[in-house]
Amino acid sequence: MNTLRFAHLSDLHLYKYKDFMYHEHHPYQSFCNVVDLLKQEDTLDFILITGDIAAKQEKESYFHVDELLAPLGTPYYWLPGNHDSAVLMKRIAPKVQVQNTNVFETKGTRFILLDSTDRQEKAVAGFLPDDELRFLEKSLAEATNTSTIIALHHQLLATPGSWTNNLGVTNKNDFYKIIDACPQVQAVICGHIHHAHAWQRKGVQYFSAPATSYQFNPYAPEFALDELAPGYQVLSIHPKTRRVHCEVKRI
Ligand SMILES: [Fe+2]
Repeated sequence: MNTLRFAHLSDLHLYKYKDFMYHEHHPYQSFCNVVDLLKQEDTLDFILITGDIAAKQEKESYFHVDELLAPLGTPYYWLPGNHDSAVLMKRIAPKVQVQNTNVFETKGTRFILLDSTDRQEKAVAGFLPDDELRFLEKSLAEATNTSTIIALHHQLLATPGSWTNNLGVTNKNDFYKIIDACPQVQAVICGHIHHAHAWQRKGVQYFSAPATSYQFNPYAPEFALDELAPGYQVLSIHPKTRRVHCEVKRI
């Protein structure tokens, strides 16, 4: 079996109006530049977007994504972030080319996509409600011998001294309780902190993607932007070792 290789994008923050600027950043243009880089990638099995596709829950944001990704001919998947509307995404999915599923398997690795947005509070921090935890448990139980990657918007692990540390999954112990009993979980990937980072916990690899829009400085004690260029990352899984290799790419 060949190495599995996919592009992990996150935090596009697109507006209805393509020329909209935020803090002197142009989210639509930087997403176009990311797509130009994706066109030069060879052998991507798929593209996965871990949320904050829209900045303001505008339906046009999702159509902008499809307009740029569908012509690549590479299957793409998405899941919601705190700036998205999961309801709207479900409604739009059948009208665009996105792969409309939250569990799939490619080249011997299983992917489980979670909705970590706090549906009660519309909060910035994440929360995994009971139905989402049960879905995770069930999806893991279905394939206990298949190496698995879990994707969600919010981060589980902290970055030292960061203003983002209270904005991750608030009930992360419920999540750990499930995955700690499932040795097939190889990695957990997220967005939300607009910054590429890698962690390890109990043998599981954790990766956050850079934003395709503006970057945060997660090491500051209060909200701060970073001057790093927008980008994405390519994750590859070697068929024998099952270890995940991560390469960050910037425009
Ligand atoms: Fe974001």
